[in-house]
This record gives sequence, structure tokens and C-alpha cells, in this order.
Amino acid sequence: MTPTEVAGMKLGNLIIEGKTKQVFDLPSMPGHCILVSKDRITAGDGVKSHELLGKAAISNKTNAKVFEILNQVGIKTAFVKLASENSFIAKKCEMIPIEWVTRRLATGSFLRRNTGVPEGYRFYPPKHETFFKDDANHDPQWSEEQIISAKFKFHGKEIGAVEVDIMQRMSILVFEVLEKAWATRNCALIDMKIEFGVDEKGEILLADIIDSDSWRLWPSGDKRLMVDKQVYRNLSTVTQSDLDTVKRNFEWISEQLQHLTPINDHLIAILMGSPSDKDFCSKIKTACESLGLNVEMRITSAHKGTEETLKIVRYYESLPLKTIFIAVAGRSNGLGPVVSGNSSQPVINCPPVKTDNVGMDVWSSLNVPSGLGCSTVMYPEAAALNAAQMVGLSNYVVWGKLKVKHFNNYVSLKIADKDLQ
Ligand SMILES: Nc1ncnc2c1ncn2[C@@H]1O[C@H](COP(=O)(O)OP(=O)(O)O)[C@@H](O)[C@H]1O
Ligand SMILES: [Mg+2]
Repeated sequence: MTPTEVAGMKLGNLIIEGKTKQVFDLPSMPGHCILVSKDRITAGDGVKSHELLGKAAISNKTNAKVFEILNQVGIKTAFVKLASENSFIAKKCEMIPIEWVTRRLATGSFLRRNTGVPEGYRFYPPKHETFFKDDANHDPQWSEEQIISAKFKFHGKEIGAVEVDIMQRMSILVFEVLEKAWATRNCALIDMKIEFGVDEKGEILLADIIDSDSWRLWPSGDKRLMVDKQVYRNLSTVTQSDLDTVKRNFEWISEQLQHLTPINDHLIAILMGSPSDKDFCSKIKTACESLGLNVEMRITSAHKGTEETLKIVRYYESLPLKTIFIAVAGRSNGLGPVVSGNSSQPVINCPPVKTDNVGMDVWSSLNVPSGLGCSTVMYPEAAALNAAQMVGLSNYVVWGKLKVKHFNNYVSLKIADKDLQ
């Protein structure tokens, strides 16, 4: 049955229909499409296929949460927003017909193709593999060289060596971010597959969907507790009770995902010795906020108002938050070392040194008395990055934003180099 309207939006042409979804044009939103999920579960390139009532809604909810996380950390995806219980709006893409697989532990088809490797072999960095989407030929594995040699071109974008490298890196990035997110629910992400598309602007985006069909997920890292589609793949005969179990598992995953919101329990307190440091501190604040950090700025001088400085420190220690201090003081930095000597919270010195006094002033931050563990950086961005790395240890969104920053650096260098050729 083909719908003509979803959530009050008129559907345009059916662009494509696959095993589990229909994709429609969305005349009210040019450059976008709507993906409507089906109540159908399939395996073995569609050979095994069952109606599973309610699967579309569960899959749609799972996918939306996963893509919200990926969008939040700054990964470029086609996902825009949920449209209805079983559909979502995405940027309309021409799809690259490759499945990009990333693995943390060896299992499944990898073991069959790599005899001798024991199950559970740990890949670091994650192992990356690519398969050509071709149901009739059982999605054959393709090498990087085969993808490049196919000379794909979508929406004017040629898929060459640079693009393949970038998508491989991005697949690993997506895996690592979701692995960290799932770790907060004590679930081990074992492997996953994703797809990329090219939007009308010629930009490569993570597209298609990510749901329980896309990954292996082992609660407590225990294969016997698996809750993903592998349970369905493993069935030789499929009873209604089996289908109920599969659906319960999918629901459980979707439910767990709704609890994945990271606890917002950190605070970066930027302490400055003088109002004249405000511009410099605003740069730190901006850099912190771009990494998803909560920031407060305070003015206090450890030299001229020591009691007040300590009062401010006690205030932040009293909050039920993980507070990191960034101390900004010109000339002799008494502030950072005094805070560090009187608190167990981390202190990052970021003195606003100028080129003509750097050699002299920086030593007040570096050559501190014994018993002090403050660190020192020279640039506003470095202070923010250092703080984000600390927060990222227990906050997967901030951790993900740092990963994405590294990835973006890698991409811009690669593109700059390509443009130079
Ligand atoms: N953002 C998008 N724009 C256009 N097509 C998309 C988008 N995301 C996914 N598709 C395509 O939708 C089709 C239907 O999905 P699906 O039912 O999973 O197909 P398949 O059985 O080929 O995997 C696939 O061809 C997929 O590549
Ligand atoms: Mg598919």
C-alpha cells in the first residue's frame, strides 16, 4: 500500500523502494525526501523475510535517536527530523552503493573469510571493510581499489581515492562515537554497517538508516546476551514466538537509546585576575562552548583578594558538578597555582602572555611549588581542548565533538592537498 500523505505533508513520487523502506519525494521541501519504514524484517539478502508488526515504528525511533546523537557531535548526516511514527525527513541523496562495515571484535562473516582468527579478536583501530550492495550476488566484498575503479559519480561528485579515504575514516568515527555512547548503557558495540549518499549540493553525507539491523550489540560484552538482528539471522525456522522475541529485543534497544542522554554534570569556571583579561577569556569561552562545554567566567585576583579567590573556589567545589578551573592571569600568575594548591579540582593555567614578555611571565605558571598539579597551556583554544578532554572522559558527546574536530582537520588537509594537485 502506497501512502499519499504523511503527517499532513503531501508525498511526491516514490523514488525508490527497498526491502525495508519506501523513499518519497517531498514537494514541500525541495532537496529533501521522506523515508517510510515497513513492518518487515529480512535477512540473507531478502531470502528470509517476515512481517513484524510494529517493527517500522521501533526502527524509526531507534534510527532517529542514533542520528540525533551523530548530528549533535557534528557528523554530517542526511537525517533532518522525525516526520511520523514510522517515517523521517532526510536530505535527498544519490546513494553510493557500498556498505561500509566497521568492526571492534572479530565475529560472524569475518571469521569465515579469515580462517584462523579467533572470535573476539580485538581490532584497534577498528577494522574496516566494504561490500558492494548487490543482493543477487550476495553483496560481494570490494577492495578500496575496486570502489575507486568503479568511478562512481553522484550529483556531480566523483568518488575517487580521497573520497574513499574520507568515508573510511568517517565510518570509523561513526562507530567510535556510537561505541562510546553505548558503553554508558554497558553495551558493547561489536560491529556495524552504514551507507553514504551525495546530496544535491554534492556533499557526501552519512545517509540511509542506522537501527538494530545495522549492528551487533552485546549487553555486558556477552555474546550470549545479543539483542540485535543476529538473533533473527540465526533462526532456522521462525515461529511467532521467535518473532515476538526479536521484536522485544528491538524495543529494548530503542528504550536503552532513549536513556543515552549524557549527564550534564560538568562546569568550566574561567577565573581571570583582572577585568582587562575579559577579551582573552571570551575566546576561551567561545572555544569551550563550540565543544559543548558549560562555562562561567569570574574575576578574582589571588594576589589582591586572596580570601575572595578561595571563597569562589569553595563555591564551585560545593556544587554537585565536575568543575574544572581555567586560570587566566597576566604578569605573575598567582591565581592558578593558588587555586591548585587549595583545591582538588583540576586547574589549567592559560596566561595571556604577549610575545615580548612570554619568556619571563610563563615561568610563574610553570615553576610552581611542590604539591601542585596545575597544567599550563598558552592559547585559548588549547585551554578549551584540554578541559574538553577531561570532560570527554565521562561525556560521550564532548568526546565525540573532539573526535569530529580531529576528523575535520584531517579532511580539510586532505582536500587542500587535493586542490593543490
Ligand atoms: N537520504 C536518502 N535519499 C535517497 N535515498 C535513500 C536515502 N537513504 C536511503 N536511501 C535509499 O532507500 C532505499 C530503500 O532502503 P532499503 O529498504 O533499506 O533498501 P535495500 O533493501 O536496498 O537496503 C535504498 O536504496 C537506500 O539506499
Ligand atoms: Mg537497507
